[in-house]
Amino acid sequence: MITQNIEFALELLQKNEIVAIPTETVYGLAGNAYSEIAIQKIFEAKKRPTYDPLIVHTYSLENAKDFVTYIPDIFYELAKIFSPGALTFLLPKKKIIPDIVTSNLKTVAVRIPNHALTLSLLQKLDFPLAAPSANPFGYISPTTAQHVENQLGDKIPLILDGGAAEIGVESTIIGEKNGQITIFRYGGISKEDLEAWTGQTIHAQISNSNPTAPGQLESHYAPKKKLYLLKKNQINIQEKEIEIKNIGVFPIDKVGFLGFNEWLVNLPIKNQILLAENGDLKLAAQKLFAAMRELDTKDIEIIITLGVPSQHLGMAINDRLQRASFYKD
Ligand code: TXA
Ligand code: MG
Repeated sequence: MITQNIEFALELLQKNEIVAIPTETVYGLAGNAYSEIAIQKIFEAKKRPTYDPLIVHTYSLENAKDFVTYIPDIFYELAKIFSPGALTFLLPKKKIIPDIVTSNLKTVAVRIPNHALTLSLLQKLDFPLAAPSANPFGYISPTTAQHVENQLGDKIPLILDGGAAEIGVESTIIGEKNGQITIFRYGGISKEDLEAWTGQTIHAQISNSNPTAPGQLESHYAPKKKLYLLKKNQINIQEKEIEIKNIGVFPIDKVGFLGFNEWLVNLPIKNQILLAENGDLKLAAQKLFAAMRELDTKDIEIIITLGVPSQHLGMAINDRLQRASFYKD
């Protein structure tokens, strides 16, 4: 059920039921982070393997002291600027967080989402909310309540509708060692912004295997149709066909194109979506997952994309496209 009834959401969460919640990045599937029963329900609804740990949401970094043993000064500094927001902090956990939440890791991922409905929910509860993105494991993350309803509607009692996600890609995950920040997942707060505010050169450690390095499975965010992240010179367009080097030849109307600010061909070809005609990466991030979902419903064989410029939010967008395009067959 899609609703704005926050009281009902509270009631369900207090009974260790799970509820989809809006955030500024993507919708989350939330449950009491202190309750193994609630956490089990999250893993089951998503069909998520238990080696992939969850993010725990609360209303302020200070409040995370309830369930983490230590918060470095530089995180407090960053929180002044970016919290609430699309930044997730890796911190040493207290025992009150069940091991299943963190897949037995000693750190817990903590995020303060920047969404009024969800912040007020968090303030009214006396426990934090564990919430992965509210999609079946491996599929595209949801940026609207309807996206959640389409795939998990029959598995969860309530979807709290907070409108379309403003940022559209997940949070940036960071860790700290000796005052130095490392990015473990590119997301809604850019590396450039973090560097500008910390004065540090920040390195990223993006891994493809779980679980010790923060949660980055190779194949993820993937539509059901095969998606190919290509270079322009791999594509050869003929009148009625598109040839893709090393992949095959496809009728032009069976190919979906996910573009950034330029059409693949300036012809009225049906299945092309431009993320941001004006070249704005923020707009592109906002539209990314909805556009992938839309192309996934079309009568096409494959989706092709050239990615976006690798800077600012483009790093997160390209990361998601890279993972969406990973196939092992
Ligand atoms: O924007 C977001 O972060 C959204 C919204 C709902 O808050 N949540 C989200 O959760 O993207 P999820 O579960 O789809 O992705 C969380 C990632 C996982 O890939 C997981 O492996 C990683 O965070 N993660 C969680 N806890 C971790 C930990 N203790 N150490 C390393 N990585 C962790
Ligand atoms: Mg996810």
